[in-house]
Amino acid sequence: MKKISISQMPNHIGETVKLGAWVANKRSSGKIAFLQLRDGSGFVQGVIVKEEVSEELFTTAKGLTQESSIYVTGVVKEDTRSSFGCELAIDGIEVIHIAQDYPITPKEHGIEFLMDNRHLWLRSRKQHAVMKIRNEVIRATYEFFNNNGFTKIDPPILTGSSPEGTSELFHTKYFDEDAYLSQSGQLYLEAAAMALGKVFSFGPTFRAEKSKTRRHLIEFWMMEPEMAFVEHAESLEVQEQYVSYIVQSVLKNCKIELERLGRDISKLENIQAPFPRITYDDAIKFLHEKGFTDIEWGDDFGAPHETAIAENYDKPVFIIHYPVGIKPFYMQPHPERDDVVLCADLIAPEGYGEIIGGSERIYDHELLLQRIKEHNLDEKAYAWYLDLTKQGAVPHSGFGLGLERTVAWISGSEHVRECIPFPRLLNRLYP
Ligand code: 4AD
Ligand code: MG
Repeated sequence: MKKISISQMPNHIGETVKLGAWVANKRSSGKIAFLQLRDGSGFVQGVIVKEEVSEELFTTAKGLTQESSIYVTGVVKEDTRSSFGCELAIDGIEVIHIAQDYPITPKEHGIEFLMDNRHLWLRSRKQHAVMKIRNEVIRATYEFFNNNGFTKIDPPILTGSSPEGTSELFHTKYFDEDAYLSQSGQLYLEAAAMALGKVFSFGPTFRAEKSKTRRHLIEFWMMEPEMAFVEHAESLEVQEQYVSYIVQSVLKNCKIELERLGRDISKLENIQAPFPRITYDDAIKFLHEKGFTDIEWGDDFGAPHETAIAENYDKPVFIIHYPVGIKPFYMQPHPERDDVVLCADLIAPEGYGEIIGGSERIYDHELLLQRIKEHNLDEKAYAWYLDLTKQGAVPHSGFGLGLERTVAWISGSEHVRECIPFPRLLNRLYP
């Protein structure tokens, strides 16, 4: 007999098949038992009618607890009500393991309880859907960048530099030297772009941020493209095409998951390049008109400000040209103004906040040296980075997309902690 996965069942209507599965849920009366089965590839209903099977099989089915593991055989039947279009008429069960007191029942649980049980919570329908969407975003990212001539480069995790400021660094010893966990692979990607033209990375990054918000993780994954001979405006075009591509890929390949999460698909269908652009100056003016008194020109936006700006649009919006004082040392100044830089943050709709930070990079040696000094960075640690500006320096731009914030937005999840398998949060290192 053929062992198949639940997701393959629609191709086997009418056949007798075998599945390895867990019992996600069970309902039974005196005459019929319904087993909600899951095997990682999907969820399907198994049906056992008492009259049609042996007494022993019916008793076995009734004795299964939530999350018990079984091999199950049966005939695949068409069922238009289920998301897979079929169900399993069970005719045999081989019990592998009976689960004991599975803590996550179909009733409501508090978030701390669920987080303590994250190793099990991952099995639930909703978490399963979010992980599938996360995977699709990653898959589509590789596809997009490979299709567009980028080479994947893997920057180091253990580094001596801190591109995004020194206050949120994770310190560690590197034998006798001080080292940090990477906040961003950007500086290494800039070096690699000078070798390979267009590069991208996808990897974990670390920020010891004391923020406890629905947008902040201590360890998160970032997509970081870097492009030689590409100026700021051109980089924005790549960003809007990339974000449109991943959203449309999820719409196409994760229909079942989006439906299971109750996501409003019409909001995603609309995500097609181009995206609107608004200057930082105009954003500040707009916020003042809206009555925000807690922000002045030169301040960084908080979540409420970003949300108020994003509410004006039904697509992500680029806020461009931030003040030099609130951005990292490496950003290229605006050609006509020395108080703002050629950068953009991309703000997602529906209050999900900044999903991309990017900029054109300084490539003039003297200016870069001056900025490193102004930011009190250790010149020695940046010697190799400065060296790049002496060896055929060119205009170049890049950006970083935060995976979990992007997945939170696309999946409609309330918090980034549900968008990574095992979140590292303030005060949470387990499970
Ligand atoms: O804006 P950020 O700090 O930009 C950089 O790190 C650049 N060096 C990237 C580059 O140009 N190559 O971070 C980029 C994105 C943010 O827009 C956000 O989506 C995400 O990373 N991010 C976080 N996501 C979850 N938790 C955190 N603590 C995050 N900090 C940033
Ligand atoms: Mg940023």
